[in-house]
Amino acid sequence: MVIFGASGDLTKRLIVPALYNLTKSGLLPQQFALIGVDHNPSDTNTWRNALHDFLEQTAKAGRGEFEAQAIDEQAWSRLAGTMSYLSGDFADPATFTKLKSHLEERDRSDRLNGCALFYMAVPDRFFGPLVESLAGARLTEESGGWRRVVIEKPFGHDLQSAKALNDRVLRHLSEDQVFRIDHFLGKETVQNIMALRFANGLFEPIWNRDRIDHVQVTVAEAIGIERRGKFYETTGALRDMVPNHLFQLVAMTAMEPPVAFDAESVREKKADVFRAVHQVQPADAVRGQYGSGTIDNEKVRAYREEPDVAANSFVETYVALKLCIDNWRWAGVPFYLRTGKRLPKRWTEIAIRFKDAPLMLFGSESANVVKDNWLILQIQPDEGIRLKFNAKQPGPEMALDAVAMDFRYKDWFHQAPAVGYETLLYDCMQGDATLFQRADQVEASWRVVDALIRAWNAPPEEVFPNYAAGTPGPKATDTLLARDGRAWRPIR
Ligand code: BG6
Repeated sequence: MVIFGASGDLTKRLIVPALYNLTKSGLLPQQFALIGVDHNPSDTNTWRNALHDFLEQTAKAGRGEFEAQAIDEQAWSRLAGTMSYLSGDFADPATFTKLKSHLEERDRSDRLNGCALFYMAVPDRFFGPLVESLAGARLTEESGGWRRVVIEKPFGHDLQSAKALNDRVLRHLSEDQVFRIDHFLGKETVQNIMALRFANGLFEPIWNRDRIDHVQVTVAEAIGIERRGKFYETTGALRDMVPNHLFQLVAMTAMEPPVAFDAESVREKKADVFRAVHQVQPADAVRGQYGSGTIDNEKVRAYREEPDVAANSFVETYVALKLCIDNWRWAGVPFYLRTGKRLPKRWTEIAIRFKDAPLMLFGSESANVVKDNWLILQIQPDEGIRLKFNAKQPGPEMALDAVAMDFRYKDWFHQAPAVGYETLLYDCMQGDATLFQRADQVEASWRVVDALIRAWNAPPEEVFPNYAAGTPGPKATDTLLARDGRAWRPIR
């Protein structure tokens, strides 16, 4: 495995920790070599040590993914033993000549059967040129073993650029060599949507317009843009989150059952979802930008005061929109989507609202307390599934109350510490592309938001900022649902 961007944040925070977790669980191939490539002059030892120190600090701080207080040095040294570092400029053909001979050497010493996975953990402007340079050095030829390329997000900035990038990449690689990553698909709870729908006979008969009123998809984040002002100013919440992460959640929820659980069958059905979606128009969307405010009792600054952000920026940090899927299953069932930075808390859920009972048998008092029926797929945090329904309160009167049945991952399964990239890395080493995006899926997603992207190049009519940090988003978001006689679920 060759990582371009070996000194970058992604390598340090996600890729190498995921490889370490795979090593610990015995899933890293026996014959494996990890080659880091980056432009800064460094060497194997310095690279290895920096990665070890970061892993150790994260573990000691007991942060998120690591429950252990110390790292497993035995597993680490197994991984560390496979590492080597090459410094070289990505624009210099000599880098690829050097890489080629290094790969050949490692191939012989580590018996790699000619297989190589090239991981582009680099800013997106390098994706096209890197593929061309790899092809130029004949590193993408599958004469010995397989050759695959993993491309990170963002895959294009709009429909046109995504098409251009696909063309550029597919001039040198075949589709089955390209693994376009969307890290939301590495989340267990996202993969579990398929298990819930297709491993149970219970849900599928009610998973349609006959029984479902609408669906709400929320990806709320409490964090701001962190140190990514430059990136965010040219990206915004719509491009950053919607055609990729949120649409993946929609696709998993809305897809038809695949004929088999293999990459082509699953990806075909997911692509179909977005083929049936109309382009979103500005009238069906709301944009927002956070002002200063308070989150978790801490004062936070406005978006326009973040480093590398223009003082009059109208880049959106919040999006809400309505999607209509025009197929037999979903016609007339809107999917409402929202995502934003600096919302009250980190909370990702897919909430499915069932239609009301056709007739209310209980008295008018009870009618007031009858609550909506929801099935909530809780993606993160507190991963689980919740079914909300009405029940009779104990006592002589027929009084109702809303109750819930809860399934929580942590009550049922012991989950090994994971950063969310383990499955994805394992799958691309196995050549299983089920959780990766096909060229047409990416383009279909961009097509849906293309009109909105173009409309939002112009400043909003509303004054920005239009929501305070720590609040659930701009007021207009409520109108989007209220005009259909519906309301958002609170962000809890
Ligand atoms: C990234 C976006 O792709 O996903 C970030 O660029 C966002 O802006 C992140 O914060 C969210 O991912 P997760 O896994 O933390 O929910």
